[in-house]
Amino acid sequence: MSSLLLPLAAGSASAAQTETAPRSDGKSLVAFFSRSGNTRVIAGQLSRTLPADLFEIAPATPYPADYFQTVEQARQERDRNDRPPLKALLPSTASYATVFLGFPIWGETAPPLIRTFLTVHDLAGKTIIPFITHGGFGLGNSQAVLASHAPRARLMEGFSMQAPQERQTIERVAGWLETLKVR
Ligand SMILES: Cc1cc2nc3c(=O)[nH]c(=O)nc-3n(C[C@H](O)[C@H](O)[C@H](O)COP(=O)(O)O)c2cc1C
Repeated sequence: MSSLLLPLAAGSASAAQTETAPRSDGKSLVAFFSRSGNTRVIAGQLSRTLPADLFEIAPATPYPADYFQTVEQARQERDRNDRPPLKALLPSTASYATVFLGFPIWGETAPPLIRTFLTVHDLAGKTIIPFITHGGFGLGNSQAVLASHAPRARLMEGFSMQAPQERQTIERVAGWLETLKVR
């Protein structure tokens, strides 16, 4: 549990000690983006356990159902530094002191939608605690993206874990379908 609450950049021991827990002077929000469900499971657990309000970060135009098309679109959006529009915005962030922010690693960084979310919502003065899933290649530069897009928030180190890759599932199922000779 303690790893969830470590500050991202503890300046000193005393500063670290004062930042070892989410603030208790306001409500918590769990905001998350998830394509294949791994991050959604964590978001649901957090919102039920804390408890906290739950907000799904979704694109105005859904990503393709096809995994490989999504990988390509995400790569282009990352390289163009796009901020795809969100399907919905939070009505207000005023009542939240702490935002648990969940997402998968896409292309070795935070998905473009996370840049949008941080840009269009005012999170100044709030504590952001990331929870991140990845397919085994680590967090990439996602922490730097969070820091640069929420410069006036207090950013904690948060939680991360390796989780199943949709790509592997697709390859396993494709192999199985081959044995069925249904196509
Ligand atoms: C478009 C796309 C890009 C991805 N890029 C990476 C990556 O760079 N590194 C990595 O470890 N996993 C990568 N993954 C795997 C996901 O990070 C991992 O499966 C994650 O748990 C998916 O979370 P979700 O089920 O909440 O969508 C990528 C997945 C997708 C769909």
